[in-house]
Amino acid sequence: MSQVKVLDPLVAQQVAAGEVVDRPASVVKELCENALDAGARRIEVEVADGGRQRLLLRDDGSGMSEEDARTSVLRHATSKIRAAGDIESVATLGFRGEALPSIASVCAFSLTTSTGRGAGTNVIADGGGKVTSSPASHPKGTTVFVDRLFYNVPARRAFLKSARAERAAVAEVMTGLAVAHPKVTFRLAEKGRRLLSLPAAGDLVERLAQLYGVGAARAMRRVEHESGAYKVSGYAASPRGAARARRSR
Ligand SMILES: Nc1ncnc2c1ncn2[C@@H]1O[C@H](COP(=O)(O)OP(=O)(O)OP(=O)(O)O)[C@@H](O)[C@H]1O
Ligand SMILES: [Mg+2]
Repeated sequence: MSQVKVLDPLVAQQVAAGEVVDRPASVVKELCENALDAGARRIEVEVADGGRQRLLLRDDGSGMSEEDARTSVLRHATSKIRAAGDIESVATLGFRGEALPSIASVCAFSLTTSTGRGAGTNVIADGGGKVTSSPASHPKGTTVFVDRLFYNVPARRAFLKSARAERAAVAEVMTGLAVAHPKVTFRLAEKGRRLLSLPAAGDLVERLAQLYGVGAARAMRRVEHESGAYKVSGYAASPRGAARARRSR
């Protein structure tokens, strides 16, 4: 009898999902990147048990039409590229069309969205199985609800760390994205407790001040370098300044 068999598509999807999402923080990273690609000015995340039990991300980006919302959870479905050559000039954070189907295949997944014109849409995809959609009211933007991450992939669930460690990883991912996008409001909360509250900042220095304190941000040095097609810019803290900033966080 043959030993080599092609995997059932759902099993293959769940295995592949591990490449994209391995903990709540990677789910939050993918969903924040989608929100930023959709032009969101405000991104709010709520977690329960550090994201192990539940996480919700709300954005005020472009939202999706009913058809786009239903398609968005399918594998290799993206609005960001059309042909392989587009990868050379991609300006968005995502383009693979992998994140939503991967996340949906390893949790109880719900996405509610609206473009602000006409009725909104709710799409439910439980464990990557059947996808159902129905009309739902929602302001312009998108809310994604990820319940019981990895409930159907026990091996991955077993690798999740404590709620405290997962919560810290979520905050770290959001902090990194917040530094890269100072003009966007980022909030993270758990059970009504604010873990991260970063109102839209005028510029990068103001965002650094929100995160590390005004003194530490002022002491940082501007870094700028250009070489050929590459350009690097930002701020660097002295080792002493960075140590102080960390203590005062
Ligand atoms: N928050 C959102 N607001 C508006 N549109 C969204 C949002 N999230 C996803 N989409 C739409 O759904 C599509 C699929 O999202 P998904 O994250 O799966 O793929 P991607 O972002 O194109 O690529 P990648 O897998 O690299 O993240 C996106 O291309 C985008 O058109
Ligand atoms: Mg994406």
